[in-house]
Amino acid sequence: MKKIFLLSLILFLSAIIYAHEKHDIFYKKGVVFKHSTHTLKNKISCNICHSKIFKKKAYGTKFKMADLYQGKYCAVCHNGKKAFAVKNCQRCHKK
Ligand code: HEC
Ligand code: HEC
Ligand code: HEC
Repeated sequence: MKKIFLLSLILFLSAIIYAHEKHDIFYKKGVVFKHSTHTLKNKISCNICHSKIFKKKAYGTKFKMADLYQGKYCAVCHNGKKAFAVKNCQRCHKK
């Protein structure tokens, strides 16, 4: 019984994590942050971003483009070294 309970708990938790990996966040001006491309495709673990850079809550962290120009938030990585630089506006802003 105990084993079955633990197994279902593990399955349940993996389902939650998997669901979040598919979770997209929609920002202003056509920017979409996709968990999937970051965690699945580029293998960035949750704890790199949470909660050092971003709270685990959509729009829970207040930031503006001015912060990105200073190398904060998305630009911790989007600096032309770890990922494409902030000057490539259209790679984030799709419209
Ligand atoms: C590359 C950075 C990054 C990684 C890696 C990352 N996240 Fe996120 N996550 C974000 C951002 C950005 C937000 C939105 C924060 C905001 O808008 O203030 C977010 C939001 C969330 C939210 C809140 C969603 C909502 O609708 O409120 C959850 C839950 C979450 N992430 C879970 C995870 C889990 C679980 C993992 C690992 C599988 C993970 N994140 C990996 C950047 C990341
Ligand atoms: C922990 C590092 C990290 C953080 C923080 C991060 N990214 Fe990324 N991002 C990457 C990497 C690595 C790639 C893939 C390499 C590349 O395309 O240059 C990527 C790719 C992308 C892409 C192209 C693939 C896609 O999903 O369409 C977009 C758009 C993007 N990031 C937007 C964002 C936004 C918006 C934020 C902030 C809310 C953010 N990223 C924060 C590391 C990060
Ligand atoms: C790594 C992804 C990314 C790149 C590259 C990027 N932006 Fe943004 N930008 C964002 C995000 C995310 C927001 C939404 C912030 C918010 O919620 O206020 C934003 C918001 C904005 C806004 C709304 C007002 C503000 O100050 O927040 C403007 C204007 C803007 N960006 C212009 C630009 C220009 C111009 C460039 C190129 C020089 C650029 N962005 C490159 C992610 C990016």
